[in-house]
Amino acid sequence: MKLITNIYQLLVTGEYDKALCGKEMGAMPYIENAYLVIDEDRIYEYGSMDDLHPIAVDEVIDATGQIVLPMWCDSHTHLVFATTREDEFVDRIKGLSYQEIAARGGGILNSARKLQAMSEDELYEDALERLSQCIKTGTGAIEIKTGYGLTVASELKMLRVIKRLSTAVDIPVKATLLAAHAIPERHKQNREAYIDEIVNEMIPAFTKESLVDFIDIFCETGYFTVAEMDTIVNAGKAHGLKPKVHVNQFTSIGGIQKAIELEALTVDHLEELTEKDIDALKTSNTIPVALPGCSFFLNIPYTPARKIIDAGLSLAVATDYNPGSSPSSSMNFIVSQACINLKMTPAEAIVAATINGAFAMDVAKETGSITKGKKANLIITKPLPSYNAIPYHFGQHQIDKVIVNGEVL
Ligand code: NIG
Ligand code: FE
Repeated sequence: MKLITNIYQLLVTGEYDKALCGKEMGAMPYIENAYLVIDEDRIYEYGSMDDLHPIAVDEVIDATGQIVLPMWCDSHTHLVFATTREDEFVDRIKGLSYQEIAARGGGILNSARKLQAMSEDELYEDALERLSQCIKTGTGAIEIKTGYGLTVASELKMLRVIKRLSTAVDIPVKATLLAAHAIPERHKQNREAYIDEIVNEMIPAFTKESLVDFIDIFCETGYFTVAEMDTIVNAGKAHGLKPKVHVNQFTSIGGIQKAIELEALTVDHLEELTEKDIDALKTSNTIPVALPGCSFFLNIPYTPARKIIDAGLSLAVATDYNPGSSPSSSMNFIVSQACINLKMTPAEAIVAATINGAFAMDVAKETGSITKGKKANLIITKPLPSYNAIPYHFGQHQIDKVIVNGEVL
C-alpha cells in the first residue's frame, strides 16, 4: 500500500456513469488538502486529510503544495505510423493546403506507401517509443487507429502492432479500425471494390482475431461519403464494433446526423459545425470530441467548443496524434489549447481530457477519475498555485511524478 498525503488539490474525484455535460463540466469535482491510498494497481481510498485515520502502508509520498489528478485519457490518436511528414509541413508553409497535398498523392496515401513497406517489428519498436513518451508526459489511456495500411495485410499489421503495444504497457489501449481513411490508389477507379474489401474481408477477419474495439471512417468531401459510412459502420456493428467517426473536419455533409443514427460513441473533429449539427447532437448520447492540435497545425478553424458546452452537451479533447495533421502527443498542450483556443475554463478542459476522454473510448470503468477501485494511474504535478496553472503553462508540462498501475514511473 502507498499513501499520498497533504495533496493540495485532488482533482476529478467521484464515480460517473456518463460523460459530464454542459455546466457539470465547469464544476470541477475536487478535494483540497487530501490524501489518497493505493493498493497494488488500484485506488483504495481517498478523502480529506482531516479524515485520515491510521493506516499501515509501505510507502508515504508527501505531496505538499502539489496537485494530483488522473492521467490524461487520449481518446483519438494515429500513433502507429511509418515516418513523419516534414516535407508536407514545408509545402503547407509555402501555401499548399492539406487537401492539395493529398490530391498530389501526399497525405494519408504517402503514409500508407511507407507503412506498407515496413515490417511489423520496425513499426512496433517505433510506436512503442512514442507510446512510452506519451505515458511519461501523463497519458494514462489511449486509443490508436489503423488507416495507414489500406490493404488487408497492412491494416492487419497495424492491428497486430496495437495489440502488442497493449500488452507491453500498463495503460488501457483501445484499437480502432480506420481502413476507410482514404481510397487506396489501386481502387481509385472502383471505390466500391475497396468498401467491399473492408466489409467482407477486413472486418470479419480482424474481429475474429479480437484485434479491434471500434470502427471509424473519414467521412469528408473527397474521402468517404455519408452513404459509405452507413455501409461500413453497419458492417462493423454487426461484428460488435462501436462507431467512433471522423466527421466535419473540412465540411459539414451530414456525417453527424448519420453517426447519431448509427449510435456512434463519438463524433470527432467538428471544426465545421452548423446549428443543425448541434441540434442533432442534443438528441443523442454521442460524445463530441475536439482535436485542437489539428486546427493549430493545419491552420483551420477550431471546433466551437463553447457552443457545444453551452448547448448542454458533453465534450472530450484529444491529441489526434498523427504525422499529417497533428504531430504532437502532448495532452498538456491540448488542455492549454482547450482553454486558449476553444475558450474552455481550466476545469472544463481538465474534465474533457480525463473523465470525458475515458468515456470517449469506453475505459471509464477503469480510469479517468479518482474513485475507489479505479486504476491508480495518476499525475502528481510540481507545486502549483492552483489547477488553473496546469493549462496556463502551455507547452511545458507541470509533472513531478507519474504513477502508472500504482507504481511511480
Ligand atoms: O484525424 N482526418 C483524417 N485523418 C487524420 C490525418 C491523417 C493524416 O494526414 O495522416 C486526422 O487529422
Ligand atoms: Fe484523426
